[in-house]
Amino acid sequence: PTAKRIEALLAKMTLEEKVGQLNFVVGDLFNTGPTVRTSESDKFNEGIKKGEITGIFNIHGAAYIGKLQKLAVEQSRLGIPLLIGADVIHGFKTVFPIPLAEAASWDLEAIEKGSRVAGRESAASGINLTFAPMVDIARDARWGRMAEGAGEDPYLGSLIAAARVRGFQGKDLSDPLTIAACVKHFVAYGAAEGGRDYNTVDISDYELRNTYLPPFKAAIDAGAASLMSSFNELNGIPATANMKIMRDILRDEWGYKGVVISDWQNIMEMTEHGYTRDNAHAGELAIKAGTDMDMMAEIYLKELPKLVKAGKVDEKFLDESVRRVLWLKFKLGLFEDPYRYSNVKTEKKEVRSKENLQAAFEVAQRSIVLLKNENNLLPLSNKTQKIAVIGQLADSKADMNGTWSFFGEAQHPVSFLEGIKKYAKGAEVTYAPGYELYNDSKAGFGAAVAAAQKADVVIMAVGESAVMNGEGASRADVALPGVQLDLMKAIHATGKPIVALVSSGRALELSWLDENIQSILATWSLGSEAGNAVGSVLYGAYNPSGKLPVSFPRAVGQLPIYYNQKNTGRPYTGTHSEPGEERVYKSRYRDVPTTALYPFGYGLSYTNFKYDNLKLSKQSFRPGEPLQVSIEVTNTGNRAGEEVVQLYTRDLVGSITRPVKELKKFQKLSFKPGEKKTVTFNITAEDLAFWRADLTYGFEPGDFKVFVGPNSRDVQEAAFTLVTEDTL
Ligand code: IFM
Repeated sequence: PTAKRIEALLAKMTLEEKVGQLNFVVGDLFNTGPTVRTSESDKFNEGIKKGEITGIFNIHGAAYIGKLQKLAVEQSRLGIPLLIGADVIHGFKTVFPIPLAEAASWDLEAIEKGSRVAGRESAASGINLTFAPMVDIARDARWGRMAEGAGEDPYLGSLIAAARVRGFQGKDLSDPLTIAACVKHFVAYGAAEGGRDYNTVDISDYELRNTYLPPFKAAIDAGAASLMSSFNELNGIPATANMKIMRDILRDEWGYKGVVISDWQNIMEMTEHGYTRDNAHAGELAIKAGTDMDMMAEIYLKELPKLVKAGKVDEKFLDESVRRVLWLKFKLGLFEDPYRYSNVKTEKKEVRSKENLQAAFEVAQRSIVLLKNENNLLPLSNKTQKIAVIGQLADSKADMNGTWSFFGEAQHPVSFLEGIKKYAKGAEVTYAPGYELYNDSKAGFGAAVAAAQKADVVIMAVGESAVMNGEGASRADVALPGVQLDLMKAIHATGKPIVALVSSGRALELSWLDENIQSILATWSLGSEAGNAVGSVLYGAYNPSGKLPVSFPRAVGQLPIYYNQKNTGRPYTGTHSEPGEERVYKSRYRDVPTTALYPFGYGLSYTNFKYDNLKLSKQSFRPGEPLQVSIEVTNTGNRAGEEVVQLYTRDLVGSITRPVKELKKFQKLSFKPGEKKTVTFNITAEDLAFWRADLTYGFEPGDFKVFVGPNSRDVQEAAFTLVTEDTL
């Protein structure tokens, strides 16, 4: 019946009304104040009435959006309701940790719940489509948008992509408390050369299929209702008009029926890329590639009718795209009730509810990663009487919201300082900003050093502000910004024990900290409940359980760095500093080791876990007869804790070379003090499949290694063989 209604509507549409359904425009949110942002404006009224606008994005407010829907439904000729999009990337007004941080929880349920809450809150505030999840694999920390995704690994990234789609969309998109997901950015945006945003991407089909496409496929399999094309060119052709990815892979191979939305003016940017002559040419190639909606370029609106009339674009391309857009509006239930997302009472009840803030608190705790804890400085004892909190980031509420959080209001988040005061119960807490985020003044150093001298323990908040990562925020250096390290050295010289709280939206280079600072916590941008989560971890109310979703480099020159690299013909396992090393012709650097400072999957706990007895159910196995891999994990400490037990494999010989390790399974488990668990994983032949030399997908028989451990480096290993008919 929906298909019939779509056809009936399409048959009534003029060419102008068709292109109107493909024209997506932005609201005024970006132009309003830094604190409470209202996005109400009359500027769309005429366009809505004329049927020139399919939807508006980055606006909010149940009452306001209700008014806009009323205009569309009652005053446009065909009465088609509006899509209301928004960048609800990690929460709406209840701000969750940035996606990279949430990925560090390795907790799919918590991540799904985070997206569910974001979906509920934004749906209650009039929104029906989010431009999330961002699933771009990111291996170069210079790229600011590492903050928005799940890190470097395609397996973890795929599971998280699917969890987020399930969270936003729920079981039924027409439920008024769910919203449509838009998986982005298609594709390989994270492989931008040099980590520079929007830069060129040139990668092999193998790399594309084995690394960058899997999270998109997973999101689509989970039902993602829409997809956004990326800004970058891929192998010479801008993604937006790239027939190979947009038509051959997305539509033909995967059978994707959802709506494809361009990114902001990226149809127009194809001319800057040097791929199209002008707007008309760009519009022609984009619609032919199946990019259904034009975000902010107004090229479809202005050029497509002329192109159809001139016989350059067959109207069937427009029909195909309009059908998909109408399908989405039907799926959202907008034709049944255009006001279903515009209930002011529901908005009041849902937005920043107690339960939502509690969910944000819990996932923020789980996102924190303990990177170092010399002599068990952490957790702090309430007997510690004098605490000096140093660093402007400790007292900056707005920065806790992180990148892409413009619905989250600047005054809302709990700062580190507030959280520390709450959990430090009775201790004397002093605060000195020390550094200034956006200038290199050292004027505050003296007061900060004096505060440290009077304290028993110093807690130093360092790292990036919210705008130092995210879109357009690539950094050529990924060290601590400005004079922060100088301040840290000055505080270190006091001899006081220091806990570093490192905020970031990327993997930072923390080599000096690792050598000199007793305790280090990766505190990312943790959202509304940042301070409470950090306070609870500092004082041991929550035992940290996060694991890094990206490798932290020793030096910026190592980038891109990722654990699932290739072996090369000259692998290097030395320390780079042994005598005679300068004459070693191996794949390495002369000045730094090749390894990460903190590897993928790494993260400590206040307790310790011992791994023993890696066992395989058999030495060789065949498709259809899974192999069991088990290991004993014991909590050897006297504190309860959670551990992410990780399983990696290596395919020793392949028709294309295979990574030295690939994450295949993991389990996040809770352990009581002293508790021992036998953790078992099943490996099937399908788990070992990849895109092979002939670009078919499947497994190859032969010898493998399996590794199990607490991270991608500190593993135990065993060997097995996959036997197939070909090898018998
Ligand atoms: O959703 C975003 C995208 O990730 C980057 N460009 C702008 C879009 C809409 O705000």
